[in-house]
Amino acid sequence: MSFATHNSPDPELAAYQSQEPAALVDRIQQIRNQMGPRLLILGHHYQRDEVIALADLRGDSYQLAKMAAESESCQAIVFCGVHFMAETADILANRPERLRQRDGRRIPVILPNLAAGCALADMADVAQVEDCWRQLGELIDMDDVTPVTYVNSTAAIKAFCGRHGGIVCTSANARAVLEWAMARRSRVLFFPDQHLARNTACAMGIPLGRMPMWDPREKHLGGCQPDAIRQSRIILWQGHCCVHQAFLPSHVAMLRQQYPDIKILVHPECMAAVVEQADEVGSTGKILHAVEQSPPGTRWAIGTEWNLVNRLKNQHPEQDIHFLWPTATLCETMYRIDLPHLCWALDHLAAGAPVNVIEVEPNIARDALEALQRMLQVG
Ligand code: 13P
Ligand code: SF4
Repeated sequence: MSFATHNSPDPELAAYQSQEPAALVDRIQQIRNQMGPRLLILGHHYQRDEVIALADLRGDSYQLAKMAAESESCQAIVFCGVHFMAETADILANRPERLRQRDGRRIPVILPNLAAGCALADMADVAQVEDCWRQLGELIDMDDVTPVTYVNSTAAIKAFCGRHGGIVCTSANARAVLEWAMARRSRVLFFPDQHLARNTACAMGIPLGRMPMWDPREKHLGGCQPDAIRQSRIILWQGHCCVHQAFLPSHVAMLRQQYPDIKILVHPECMAAVVEQADEVGSTGKILHAVEQSPPGTRWAIGTEWNLVNRLKNQHPEQDIHFLWPTATLCETMYRIDLPHLCWALDHLAAGAPVNVIEVEPNIARDALEALQRMLQVG
């Protein structure tokens, strides 16, 4: 494990779970008022409505990483999102430069529910990545390969990238990061999301035939042919997000048939056959911006997580917003952050005994910071 956590027993939570939502909101507001600017609650766009309403700042993964990196006055961050996001916030908010400014005092980054992971991030394990790197080294020059990890990955994988001259990307800057990587070395090894990698590389004109996919469950060469590896420009990893992989080309076709003027707006974690048919593709921040900037009467079908699309539908009744497909598109792990967990975590923080503190091990944090800082420099 790349992180240390301080957790509390479950029975305590039961007392919160039996309370009415209004009482929990009152208590949370009370703590926010009491702590003022010492407390920063960050919320990802996929959080449920009642949680996002209590966030001080909200954003996509890139924006949230920047907010954590730039946070100066707060003394604690409560992260309403998933585990890899809290790890990233810990690495950036407690980087050496910041610790020196604060005389060594750490900002605890709290994830209200430790079960809020990311199934996509879990699809690449650092031991598998190291094995892949070693096997590739028997065929190609690894000094000429840049490892690129999607931010949806463990801190240990970000550290691997940091150690090998690699970089992190998010859905907001994947193209800029891949261009940076391709300008330095001839090849990229990209993990864990095959779709973001394929969609971005296709948009850059890299032929599909030069993108072999490494399956970490295959013992030899990830199931690839040696020649495919030798001719590769970008080696994909066989990982995906189940939420976004649920969107199919048939959903696009169905909506286009029903509403010929509809605009299809999707997240780049969707499969290429969906992305190719979309009018716009982008991070959750870009999706939000596209809707906010559109004139009344715009008709959209949005292919991303259910909570964000539902909120956009409710907040923009002047537009005609549809789910590209509503079934199985709730991110169950994001949903694990709820009012009882948030209130419980805040009560402990206010009492001076924080729980669920995500603290990345120093060696891992140091190397992961390299890869994150390269990303922040690319933008
Ligand atoms: P964004 O970086 O676009 O917010 O996406 C995060 C994520 O987990 C998408 O599934
Ligand atoms: Fe991970 Fe998919 Fe949930 Fe995003 S939507 S946090 S990629 S499981």
